[in-house]
Amino acid sequence: MKNTPRINHFASAKDASDAAARYILETIKTALKEKKRLSVVLPGGSAPKKLNASIISLSGDMDTSRIDWFFGDERAVDPKSPDSNYRMQMETLLEPLNIQPEHIHRIPGELGASRAAGEYNLLLADYFSGPPAFDLILLGLGPDGHTASLFPGSEALSTEDVPVVGTGTAPLKPHVERVTLTFPAINTAGNVIFFTGRTGKETIIEHLCSAADDSPGKKIYPFESVKPEFGPAIWFVYRNNS
Ligand code: 6PG
Repeated sequence: MKNTPRINHFASAKDASDAAARYILETIKTALKEKKRLSVVLPGGSAPKKLNASIISLSGDMDTSRIDWFFGDERAVDPKSPDSNYRMQMETLLEPLNIQPEHIHRIPGELGASRAAGEYNLLLADYFSGPPAFDLILLGLGPDGHTASLFPGSEALSTEDVPVVGTGTAPLKPHVERVTLTFPAINTAGNVIFFTGRTGKETIIEHLCSAADDSPGKKIYPFESVKPEFGPAIWFVYRNNS
């Protein structure tokens, strides 16, 4: 099927990080041959710290000046908070790559979820002169099958009319309001890549691997609604966190 996810399994997080980083950097390098600027969406959580270390060590001569960096979701916290996805990405990727501030477009979570979502919708509408069409979106996977901040049972799962929404208090830590891209904003991206460990997510990963068809009604987890229009999502899954 066109949209069957392509899943790459690795024993170690390091091997998965290096493989994912190489794939991401190659995707960026290829896209930069066709476009003056790229839009890349960064994930939150903790797994990206491993991935970012590999991206930095393998980035070589990547022309970062032609990339604009966005966020797939954010917690409704101050950007200096230890819970901020922006802070995590600044510390582990964007500062080490010396990305200029004007190319970093953070979600202003400190405004509260609803206002932050409104502001980000305006920012994206201005950047894309219409609905977003990101070149590359990096995503994680939660232990309940969420991705970005699209949690099971959330109204955001069925939002079709805006690219960004604010949600209520998240069911998983940190228990704060969230701001998240919606599935239409994810599924119109040119490339979608998941990077995740298996620990605590074994049943979900098994379901991912076994759910070979797109038949409606078979979706159990939010991540299953990631069905990119331009091709399959690419997964990098590691067994051991070390
Ligand atoms: C967040 C993330 C979230 C994350 C998953 C996995 O804000 O928490 O965007 O979707 O990717 O929860 O988190 P780990 O990488 O920590 O397993």
